[in-house]
Amino acid sequence: MKSLFRTSIFFILALSFVSCVDNSKPNYQYMPNMYETVSYEPYGAYDVFVDEQEAKLPVEGTVSRGWRPYEYENSPEGFAAAKAENTNPLPYTESNLAKGKALYTIYCAVCHGDKGDGKGILVQREKILGIPSYDDAGRAITEGGVYHVQYYGLNAMGSYASQTTIEERWLITHYVMSLKNELLGSPSREFTEENTGAEGQHVDGENLIPAVNAESEIDEGEATTGEGNSNNQQENQN
Ligand code: HEC
Repeated sequence: MKSLFRTSIFFILALSFVSCVDNSKPNYQYMPNMYETVSYEPYGAYDVFVDEQEAKLPVEGTVSRGWRPYEYENSPEGFAAAKAENTNPLPYTESNLAKGKALYTIYCAVCHGDKGDGKGILVQREKILGIPSYDDAGRAITEGGVYHVQYYGLNAMGSYASQTTIEERWLITHYVMSLKNELLGSPSREFTEENTGAEGQHVDGENLIPAVNAESEIDEGEATTGEGNSNNQQENQN
């Protein structure tokens, strides 16, 4: 008799639980954090973070992937050093020179003239003065110097760092040096054969930009990978 009573209690209880199930609503959750993770909104403000900022600053000195620092300072000393020692990493090929010419015509010819003699259309119309000729003996321009002035600008000449890529500036540099040669009446420099040598990856126009992202560069950029990020959090939390 007792056991029958127990069994019936059990059935009534079981029935009452089952009857409460409503499949149209979420059920009770055991340890809700297992179902609903504590995720932070991008750029949200939370007490747990330093400065209450979910978005962290990159580690100091972090460079974005593919970006290569330019080592020379924007100072007379930096200019002199670049002028004396920096050289063009791109091979002097016919196609590189042609690309350099096209870019030069877009960015530089208005002032410096198609021949590099300092008589561009803006000079002819007297919109700007004091444009030097590339064969100016006092300036004695070099590859490193030509790149430097494109990167930082020089007095009345603005910087081209935001409009041109590293490769494009070196392509232009090749063309500027060839114009200097022509102005001086020197024999023109001999071309390197296309697609040869260690720098073969830089030769084709198509490869110029991806070459920046070539694997070797990525390996160096460890600051932007996981390790760097954990350093970031440690640093910011001190
Ligand atoms: C707005 C006109 C203007 C444009 C465009 C311009 N330049 Fe210049 N450039 C100047 C002026 C002005 C100077 C002289 C600066 C000085 O010495 O004060 C100069 C000087 C130079 C020099 C001589 C630097 C030296 O060693 O003394 C080079 C090389 C040069 N420019 C290259 C370029 C190249 C390459 C481009 C295109 C990417 C370019 N410039 C576009 C105005 C211009």
